[in-house]
Amino acid sequence: MSLETNKIAAAVLTAGVIAMTSGFIAGILVHPHQLKESVYKVEGVQQAAAPAAAAPPAIEPVGPLLAAADLAAGEAQSKKCTACHTFTQGGPNRVGPNLWDIVGAKHAHAEGFAYSDAIKSKSGNWDYEELNHFLASPRTYAPGTKMAFAGLPRVADRAALIAYLRTLSASPKPLP
Ligand code: HEC
Repeated sequence: MSLETNKIAAAVLTAGVIAMTSGFIAGILVHPHQLKESVYKVEGVQQAAAPAAAAPPAIEPVGPLLAAADLAAGEAQSKKCTACHTFTQGGPNRVGPNLWDIVGAKHAHAEGFAYSDAIKSKSGNWDYEELNHFLASPRTYAPGTKMAFAGLPRVADRAALIAYLRTLSASPKPLP
């Protein structure tokens, strides 16, 4: 190997050693720390550090819709219930309890019906918004309920049905 080649190799080696050493020393002198969140937030880009918990969808109230609700549409909705419920005064309990005069009745109102603890443990009455929440999603309202019904996702359907249920009474409760 010629002297020139040796010099070049030595220069390259020295440069390498200096680069490594300075990187090492810089690492000791400066302690970079990672930010928990990026400082510049880009609209629409998910922050990996803070995953948003999926909030349960809010249930729209039926109260403001009841007075103008379509009773015929409500009666049509009630056909989804008659596989399990009767609606007539003094009607029998079937898979589910009789629902005559259900608006304003206490939870687990029917004599002789074997309710789940989920319904029995609810205090208070079936007022309009309790029925609204139950009918939107029985399992969300009362986890463990025996009522195997998926629920009515549309607030207009629930309002119509609840307005119809209100009429199934000798003395319908006042509208809200
Ligand atoms: C597959 C059968 C089934 C269908 C369909 C069904 N239900 Fe029920 N329902 C039940 C059962 C069973 C219970 C008792 C729930 C429990 O004890 O957990 C119940 C309970 C209820 C209660 C509570 C009554 C009380 O005395 O506390 C109401 C109100 C009710 N259902 C309304 C409805 C309406 C309105 C519909 C139609 C949109 C409907 N259900 C559809 C089976 C059904």
